[in-house]
Amino acid sequence: MAIRTVTDAIRYVGADDNTLTLFENQYPVQPMGVSYNSYVILDEKIAVMDSVDARAAEEWLSNVAQVLEGRSPDYLVVTHMEPDHSGSLMHLAQRYPEMKLVGNAKTFTMIKQFFGTGALTEGRMLEVGEGDTLSLGTHRLRFLMAPMVHWPEVMTAYEETEKILFSADAFGRFGALERTARAPWAPQARRYYYNIVGKYGAQVQALLKKVSALEIKTICPLHGPMLTEGLEEYLQLYDLWSQWKPEEPKSILIAHASIHGNTARASETLKGKLEGKGVRVTLCDLTVTDLSYAVTSAFYCGKLVLASSTYDGGLFPPMKAFLEHLQAKGFRSRRVGLMENGSWAPAAARLMRAELEKMKDLRLCETEVSLRGALNQTSEAQMDALVAELCAE
Ligand SMILES: Cc1cc2nc3c(=O)[nH]c(=O)nc-3n(C[C@H](O)[C@H](O)[C@H](O)COP(=O)(O)O)c2cc1C
Ligand SMILES: [Fe+2]
Ligand SMILES: [Fe+2]
Repeated sequence: MAIRTVTDAIRYVGADDNTLTLFENQYPVQPMGVSYNSYVILDEKIAVMDSVDARAAEEWLSNVAQVLEGRSPDYLVVTHMEPDHSGSLMHLAQRYPEMKLVGNAKTFTMIKQFFGTGALTEGRMLEVGEGDTLSLGTHRLRFLMAPMVHWPEVMTAYEETEKILFSADAFGRFGALERTARAPWAPQARRYYYNIVGKYGAQVQALLKKVSALEIKTICPLHGPMLTEGLEEYLQLYDLWSQWKPEEPKSILIAHASIHGNTARASETLKGKLEGKGVRVTLCDLTVTDLSYAVTSAFYCGKLVLASSTYDGGLFPPMKAFLEHLQAKGFRSRRVGLMENGSWAPAAARLMRAELEKMKDLRLCETEVSLRGALNQTSEAQMDALVAELCAE
């Protein structure tokens, strides 16, 4: 990947990863890829902002060396210790033995955990805390802690002269920079947010509060593009997402898990009825959709209908997995309708309800649709009642 110019004094030296299948061994990142971002601030003193995943170590080291033009970096600022950013830092530390690592107390605890207590001499660890500054010459970094966004040691760095926020994983998105140069920011930023950061909405709110006091011209996250325009929109989306507010309060996601297709067909019938009332509806087949996308769609909409076959007295596994994921990501504050199916002893609605009880502030519709194999007159009447309830608020 080519080195990029962020400003006269700041270079992008990160790397695109186009071959990774699953980010964090969980989230599909094909075909868009992912980038591990790193930056160099060139001033009287030189600061490298974060390292990259070990998969990209060589490319990163070569990029850094190229922009240094024979100089040595004074600092490596470590805003986040997750291995997709810390995986290569010891390579740079070994190559430049005079360079100091800048982190907070928790950063250094983790460095010792990952790389051993003797990995760095005490003199090479420059500890910073909330509001501390580091002058590089005309540039000055101010550190703002962002604990649990989404790891405990996370911090951000605000460069005061050029008004750049180095935001760690916040404002990051999936997508290699070259491959997704023209892709809109929101879709893959939303999927990144809800799946990786989403549980920590309160902590994101705390960070946004600090950030609101700053004038920001550019956001440099650890994944995805540097944000130079339309920052207001991105900040607003983060504000919405971190309060678990839907982007489309009246839209409905119907997520179905069907063994033989009857529950899926009934979901389509339900979709038609709702659309007939002018509602925007998205269908999600949980048997074929990656959970990271399904979860994101559920957060996007204000209302959710869950439709599941009963399976050996339990929930059909794709629905069970979906509900476990929703809970893990802090799903809350939505209107929810239920549709179950069972050819002899349907239990799915009761079981879905039990899972939903573990989540906060969900408002369940009174009507539950109970299919006995396929949609019939009784269940269709229930469906009409559910439609009325879903449209009522
Ligand atoms: C392996 C298996 C287990 C099932 N277990 C139950 C069950 O415990 N109770 C029940 O009422 N129906 C059970 N069913 C029937 C399904 O719920 C049935 O497929 C459904 O009613 C029809 O909807 P579908 O076409 O969307 O799967 C089972 C079906 C299969 C294939
Ligand atoms: Fe991370
Ligand atoms: Fe990351």
